[in-house]
Amino acid sequence: MCGIIGYTGNENAVPYLLKGLGSLEYRGYDSCGISVFQKGKIKTLKCSGRIQTLSEKLCKNNLSSETGIGHTRWATHGKPNSRNAHPHESQSGLFSVVHNGIIENHASLKEKLVKDGFVFKSETDTEVIAQLLEQNYSGSALSSLSKTVSQLEGSFSLGIICREEEGKIFCVRKQSPLVAAKAESGSFVASDITALLPFSKDIFFFNDDELAVIEKEKISFFDLSGNEIKKTAETIDFSASHQEKEGHEFFMHKEIMQQPHVIKETINAYFKNGRISFENINLNKNELQKTSRIYLVACGSAYHVALSGKYLIEEMAKIPCEADIASEFRYRNPPLNTNTLVIIISQSGETADSLAALRLAKNQGAKTLSVVNVPLSTIAQESDSVIFTHAGPEIAVATTKAYSCQLAVIYLLAAYISSCLFLLSEEEEKDYVSKLSSLDEKIKQALETEPLAKKLSEILGKSKNIFFIGRNTDYPVAMEGSLKLKEISYLQSEAYGAGELKHGTISLIEKGSVVIALCCRKSVFKKMLSNIREVKARGAFVVALVSENQKELAEGADFIISLPETENRFSPSIEIIPLQLLGYHTAKIKGCDIDKPRNLAKSVTVE
Ligand code: AGP
Repeated sequence: MCGIIGYTGNENAVPYLLKGLGSLEYRGYDSCGISVFQKGKIKTLKCSGRIQTLSEKLCKNNLSSETGIGHTRWATHGKPNSRNAHPHESQSGLFSVVHNGIIENHASLKEKLVKDGFVFKSETDTEVIAQLLEQNYSGSALSSLSKTVSQLEGSFSLGIICREEEGKIFCVRKQSPLVAAKAESGSFVASDITALLPFSKDIFFFNDDELAVIEKEKISFFDLSGNEIKKTAETIDFSASHQEKEGHEFFMHKEIMQQPHVIKETINAYFKNGRISFENINLNKNELQKTSRIYLVACGSAYHVALSGKYLIEEMAKIPCEADIASEFRYRNPPLNTNTLVIIISQSGETADSLAALRLAKNQGAKTLSVVNVPLSTIAQESDSVIFTHAGPEIAVATTKAYSCQLAVIYLLAAYISSCLFLLSEEEEKDYVSKLSSLDEKIKQALETEPLAKKLSEILGKSKNIFFIGRNTDYPVAMEGSLKLKEISYLQSEAYGAGELKHGTISLIEKGSVVIALCCRKSVFKKMLSNIREVKARGAFVVALVSENQKELAEGADFIISLPETENRFSPSIEIIPLQLLGYHTAKIKGCDIDKPRNLAKSVTVE
């Protein structure tokens, strides 16, 4: 996902732009650049690779300007190189543009612009915007922007400077998030709050189809017709400390270690007098008694939470549940109606496919509820109800603490629905809540398996085919463990329902294969032992994750990770801990860029 930063004030913009770009690195990128004013012209410097490279380039050029825009690019159209890096200038250098999103009709627009004599330098859709701004310019940059926006189809948040209007930054938001802030040093605009929090906690959130003119002393908002809009800033209580590693080598490690605390925060937020309480979600008993089907819809790790939720909600609330990958849900014409509840799970609240799934559900009359980590994000704002996880900003691209907080919300929600349907008595709910209240302590104990995970990572680092297997609620955890390993260590691995392995894939098991068997779900433990024997007989090196009172039973395993005993329904939260640490240490051994894995973005705001 691309990152936008802009500054205008009485100080040199360049250090602010570089700091802002540094805060946006976690979103994932492959090139970067800035544009500033210099001697009445726009000066643009950009490069492929990291911000450090850009910074060295800027030092050589000794750039200084009170206004500028910057960008980190996650390539969608055109290779990740300096030619395609943002910002993109218009033909005569009248405009410079940074963009997050996709212009879906860029090809037809480009064809017309070329016929009108415009010469393009890059392969990007963004350069089309810069040329259109120039073509539409007749003395007012804001008017040119309004006209240009009316020609664009797709998703975009834009930061623009105009040579004839120094000191101003022109912005617009359509589907891709954009925020702004007024600070003592000047005014800022950015793709998300992490880039603004070091300067101000009073944040303006753009809505779709809103324009803004950012000036040193003021920020003015307009609708597409040019009417001024009065906005008030939201005060965000995220401390900027989340942007510090606080002694950890990588943000991912810090965030793994934060899990006991943030899970406790999340669970406590929804307890009242020993009962589960979701005050501000309009999902009361009557609504739930009319609910005939629940869809849990998400992407990536959040989808793995959705799968866990399916098992748990069906087990506890007896309502048919489906877990859907958002990019599939939105195109398979699911049967939705007013008796359907669609639950969207998303850390960022900006994932394009999850947002599209939400909008589909609403269009079809379904009730919508979202589980989101980022306050005021688009999915949070557009859902009928929202339950916030309290993970705090998650900087590492590979999610850990947000995933675990989503699981905690699912545990609460399953019991809440069950209680509303009179399937969970008050006594049973209090017992459930009491066990959930000690989950953070169990996770602290699970974190003590780090030395084992580190030892195991030395074996994994040399392996060619790695399998994660599990049954029931251990299966989605196996999927999450596999994703963690793949996305940060670039090692190929696969998650499989343990009972399914013998229906084909077991043919891949040979001497040297590593099979990580998740065995904490008691109801299927004996079956897991059989699966361990099956793969062991074919030469696999078997790692067994077991509850502490079962470790003797996991005979035949080559490596055992014993985990604290816990209420079985909550075992996913315990089992994922060594798998997160395993992924982390394997990536570390391989020298990977753990917080910013190649090709990945923190939130995929493009389809
Ligand atoms: C997981 O480590 C990834 N960061 C990715 O799979 C992520 O979970 C997915 O893109 C969904 O993001 P969201 O929760 O912000 O919607």
